[in-house]
Amino acid sequence: MITTIRNGLALVFTGLLLQGCWEAPPMESEQLGFRGTGMLQTSNPDLTEPKLAANVLPEPLAAVPVVEGGPTAADVYENVQVLGHLSVAEFARTMTAITAWVSPEQGCAYCHEGANFVDDNLYTKVVSRRMMEMTMAINSDWNSHVGETGVTCLTCHRGNNVPEYIWFEQDGPPTAGGMAAKGYQQNHAAMDVGSTSMLSDPFSKYLTAEPEAIRVISQTALPQRGDARHESSTQATENTYSLMVHMSEGLGVNCTYCHNTRAFTSWEQGSPARATAWYGLQMVSNLNDEYLEPLGPTYPEHRLGALGDAPKTNCTTCHQQVNKPFAGASMLDDYPIWRPEQ
Ligand code: HEC
Ligand code: HEC
Ligand code: HEC
Ligand code: HEC
Repeated sequence: MITTIRNGLALVFTGLLLQGCWEAPPMESEQLGFRGTGMLQTSNPDLTEPKLAANVLPEPLAAVPVVEGGPTAADVYENVQVLGHLSVAEFARTMTAITAWVSPEQGCAYCHEGANFVDDNLYTKVVSRRMMEMTMAINSDWNSHVGETGVTCLTCHRGNNVPEYIWFEQDGPPTAGGMAAKGYQQNHAAMDVGSTSMLSDPFSKYLTAEPEAIRVISQTALPQRGDARHESSTQATENTYSLMVHMSEGLGVNCTYCHNTRAFTSWEQGSPARATAWYGLQMVSNLNDEYLEPLGPTYPEHRLGALGDAPKTNCTTCHQQVNKPFAGASMLDDYPIWRPEQ
């Protein structure tokens, strides 16, 4: 009797467990490549709809009238180094917009102490000024990636002081010295790489200054040590896959969104999105190297990583599991100052 009840309970629990694992059909799939290549993008409408609903842009602030020959921010204010060319009204509108995008709870006080707008005494103001330059650089120098859509502070911050998705260099758990095998940051399932046990920090290798070559397939019959283009070790392969898992997760897509998986290396057989992704990799390395990493000394200690490095960006910072941030909607027509003329 007791055994029967126990077995019955076990069955019920197993049923509940399995139910939690299943994604209810019907799944949707879209063919992206030539027929027969299996280049399908599969998605679950129950999961896609809430994701897209969370990626709708807020209403833009009302535009301000243009007054020809009116005073600029540089005429009126003392310490404007980036936005000095704006009209005073557009400057005020911009301050209101960035407050909503970065510090809606703290308001102006997050970057300015009381009514003291001039001084650079808060680190957040100094960081913001550099962020302004970075945002303009993304929109004018990296059209190869962000196209006409572009980005604003909101793309990364989404109303948070600190963007939800950032990364730091990792040390990994301590390992014994001497002859003991090294951990190589592996076998510690990391969320950043889709809970796989491959390299938990592919970012330091591939998304900083002088990134390593993202290579698996040797171009020669025999490995050629010392030449990254031809050296395809198991380690390099796992590291590449780790980065690729991050890219897929960050964009909410399958590998087949960019590759024909019969030949990962082939650009001809891949999709156009792969080329966009390639520029994305170059852009992210550049942003981390030129803008984010050098801000290290500006941040208070509690904002730095365990190894003392500055917080940095990866694909998820902007994309947030969608193939195009905000599903491809642009804010630049409403806020053209973020795409300066070249
Ligand atoms: C996220 C940070 C941030 C927030 C929030 C913010 N500001 Fe600013 N503010 C800046 C930065 C950076 C500058 C300098 C811009 C430059 O150098 O071109 C600045 C400059 C100014 C100046 C010019 C001061 C001078 O004399 O040089 C005024 C005025 C100003 N802000 C008002 C505001 C008001 C009002 C709010 C709230 C509605 C606000 N700011 C919210 C970052 C911020
Ligand atoms: C490419 C993504 C990206 C864009 C675009 C971006 N930021 Fe940031 N921002 C970051 C990252 C990453 C950090 C570091 C997070 C941290 O401080 O831990 C950061 C930090 C900040 C901080 C410091 C917050 C704190 O509490 O330490 C401020 C303020 C800020 N950004 C303002 C802005 C403003 C204003 C804009 C638009 C002009 C902007 N950001 C655009 C990625 C971005
Ligand atoms: C958003 C587009 C994108 C997605 C999604 C993507 N990749 Fe990639 N993949 C690339 C790009 C771009 C490169 C080339 C990078 C370079 O050459 O610097 C690449 C390179 C590779 C390589 C190296 C090929 C060689 O020449 O040695 C392999 C292997 C690979 N990807 C596997 C995968 C796997 C497995 C997945 C899914 C987990 C995946 N990729 C998802 C864009 C993508
Ligand atoms: C600064 C924000 C930002 C970052 C960081 C970023 N992207 Fe993007 N990405 C965008 C924007 C904006 C678009 C939309 C461009 C358009 O509409 O033409 C885009 C588009 C793409 C597309 C084209 C999607 C399609 O369906 O055609 C791919 C692929 C892509 N990004 C991959 C990546 C990868 C991989 C990374 C990380 C290495 C990355 N992105 C990092 C902003 C970003």
